[in-house]
Amino acid sequence: MRESIQFLLNGRLETLRNLPPATTLLNYLRKVKRLTGTKEGCAEGDCGACTVVIGELNDGHVRYRAVNACILLLGMLEGRSVTTVEHLRGADGRLHPVQQALLDAHASQCGFCTPGFVMSLYALYLGDGEPRPRAGRINDVLAGNLCRCTGYGPIVRAAQSMHDLPAADTGVKESSDLVQLQAIAHRETVVLECRGRRFYSPASLEDFARLCAENPGATIVSGATDVGVWITKWHRDLASFIWTGRVSDLRAVREEGALLRIGAAAPWSDVEALIVQHFPDFGEVVRRFGSVQVRNTATIGGNIANGSPIGDAAPALIALGARVVLRKEMSRRTLPLEAFFIAYGRQDRQPGEFVEAIELPLLADPARLKCYKLSKRFDQDISAVCGAFNIDVADGTVREARICYGGMAATPKRARSVEAALKDQAWTLATVMAALPAFDHDYAPLSDVRGSASYRARAAKNLLIKYFHEMQRPLSETRLVGREAAFG
Ligand SMILES: Cc1cc2nc3c(=O)[nH]c(=O)nc-3n(C[C@H](O)[C@H](O)[C@H](O)COP(=O)(O)OP(=O)(O)OC[C@H]3O[C@@H](n4cnc5c(N)ncnc54)[C@H](O)[C@@H]3O)c2cc1C
Ligand code: FES
Ligand code: FES
Repeated sequence: MRESIQFLLNGRLETLRNLPPATTLLNYLRKVKRLTGTKEGCAEGDCGACTVVIGELNDGHVRYRAVNACILLLGMLEGRSVTTVEHLRGADGRLHPVQQALLDAHASQCGFCTPGFVMSLYALYLGDGEPRPRAGRINDVLAGNLCRCTGYGPIVRAAQSMHDLPAADTGVKESSDLVQLQAIAHRETVVLECRGRRFYSPASLEDFARLCAENPGATIVSGATDVGVWITKWHRDLASFIWTGRVSDLRAVREEGALLRIGAAAPWSDVEALIVQHFPDFGEVVRRFGSVQVRNTATIGGNIANGSPIGDAAPALIALGARVVLRKEMSRRTLPLEAFFIAYGRQDRQPGEFVEAIELPLLADPARLKCYKLSKRFDQDISAVCGAFNIDVADGTVREARICYGGMAATPKRARSVEAALKDQAWTLATVMAALPAFDHDYAPLSDVRGSASYRARAAKNLLIKYFHEMQRPLSETRLVGREAAFG
């Protein structure tokens, strides 16, 4: 087992040992390396001021993604590259086209948010290959970057013009990343240890399973978009971590016959396109899941394993009839996802056991699945209520109904009484209206900052009515923002 981590920071190799494993990348950059161009705003993944670009080997290339450094743990850098805003300027002192475009468009005032915008746009510049990104795509890319004084118009215009400027010499830096990352790639388990606290980074499923079994009290970390916030905001004292990020089997996504099997450690940005392809409306929820920075690290497994009653994946997955694959050492078990959530904060997971994958049955008629995320903001917000509907109608009669909500109970929960009220009935508005009182048997929602109990109860009922209407006519009549804004 190696006892130091290695990664590239702005093109130079860093080898670190004996550092507290709960150290965030942002603290390391600012306090140790004095790279203070990367800013701290919220320290919880919300504002994007700390955005840096992480590079990772992927099929002989380096895949670059924008991430929030404030909630990324140092151990998660093993074998990766980190680029900060200081590295963008060319060797001749010229600004990178992204920076020049922001300057030309007067897209900065106080400037505190600007390094974060630069880095989000730099990832877009490197990744998309679109000569002129569409405004909808740019809006999605910038949803995780908050600017309080400039206004987004000039920033979006800068993003649209950045490819028109002469390319800087940064291509040389990126190809040197590839060579250097290939040179430090290996398959050994790595541990970053300091005073008995450890961050394990295994590279194989067997090593990962063994470490989980041997250290049942350790915190499994995937994207750290929850775990990072426990550290920065809740000040939780976590002794040991086991990271899923280097285990390729846990990140694999594939179609197996009539199933889509998603490895628990696949980041949302890796599964988004397949979800859009097979379940377009679930894709809309994924698009609104946090921000690009959050989706670039946050995983489907973390979203389920955290047991949150307001997690956005569970309603759609349960409505689809998804199954969760759990593994402990060499043994596996599979259960319907709804059975995994036992009570608030309690899931059916044994010590040393972990979520290995999620299996989603493919639908003959993908348009049948509709998902609705109700939140105060369109982007980067947590749901007050999230409802998902999968109602099978044949010859005008409801054959089967699977309806699930988040935000309505202590766990994501199916509307079993409503489903029973619909089953075998004619699929008409009268049937839907007659089924509405059954909601009061299924749910007794709570009031909190996101919505009152009465709002939630009413909204849940209204969503079923909306589903009925959407199954009769085009979505454009009922949706403010169509999916074409992002994917069309
Ligand atoms: C700014 C921001 C915006 C967000 N927006 C949304 C949103 O729109 N919708 C939403 O639902 N959530 C949102 N979240 C919450 C979070 O991003 C998700 O829950 C995410 O999917 C968690 O995944 P992760 O990989 O980051 O989990 P981690 O933080 O790594 O882990 C979360 C929990 O799961 C456990 N865990 C992780 N992987 C496994 C595994 N394979 N087996 C067993 N246990 C495991 C961890 O021990 C921990 O208890 C947001 C978070 C932030 C910071
Ligand atoms: S400091 Fe706000 S997202 Fe990191
Ligand atoms: S320029 Fe001031 S917050 Fe964006």
